[in-house]
Amino acid sequence: MTGTTGEQDVVDVLTSDHREVTDLLGQISGTSDPERRRDMADTVISELVRHSVAEEMFVYPAMRKHLPNGQEAVEHDTQEHKELERTMKELERVDSTDARFDELIAQLSTILADHVQDEESEQFPQLRARVPREELVQMAGKVEAAKKVAPTRPHPNAPNDKVFHMLVGPGVGLVDRLRDKLSGRNTED
Ligand SMILES: [Fe+2]
Ligand SMILES: [Fe+2]
Repeated sequence: MTGTTGEQDVVDVLTSDHREVTDLLGQISGTSDPERRRDMADTVISELVRHSVAEEMFVYPAMRKHLPNGQEAVEHDTQEHKELERTMKELERVDSTDARFDELIAQLSTILADHVQDEESEQFPQLRARVPREELVQMAGKVEAAKKVAPTRPHPNAPNDKVFHMLVGPGVGLVDRLRDKLSGRNTED
C-alpha cells in the first residue's frame, strides 16, 4: 500500500521484502533441480540478510524512539533475526540434495512467518501512526541505498549475477560477508 504522494515509505519497502522472500521460500520445496535450489536458497539468504541489516540500522532506532513498547519490540525482533541467521548459516553449507536442506527451508519459513506477522500487525502500523510520513519516506530511501552497497542476489532466472558474485561471492560465509558489506563492518577489505 502506497501513500497519497505515490512515494514508497519504509513500511512499503519492508513489506514487499517479506512477500518476496516468503514466495521464494515456498517455491524451493516445489523445485527439484539441485542447482536451482542452491541458487534460490542463496537468493533467499541475500534478501533476508539485507532486510535484517536494513531494519537494524534504520528502523530499530525509530522503533525505540517512537513506539511505547519500542525497546521490547526491538529485543524480540533481534532474537528472531539471530534465529534466522543461525538457520541461514547452516543452510549456506548444506547440499541442496540433502534432506536437511528441506528441513532448513521449512524452519526458515516458520521463523519468517512469525517475524512477518509481528511486524506487519504490530510494529509497522505503529510506525505509520507515530512517525511523520516524511521521515518514513526518508527511511525508505536509506534502505534502498543500503541495497546498492550489497545488491541483492539476482533471482535465479536473471541472466547474469556477475556483480553479485564479484561483491560477495557464492557459498559458505555468505551470511557474514553480506552482513559485513551492509553494516560497513569491513573485516576483510
Ligand atoms: Fe521484517
Ligand atoms: Fe525484523
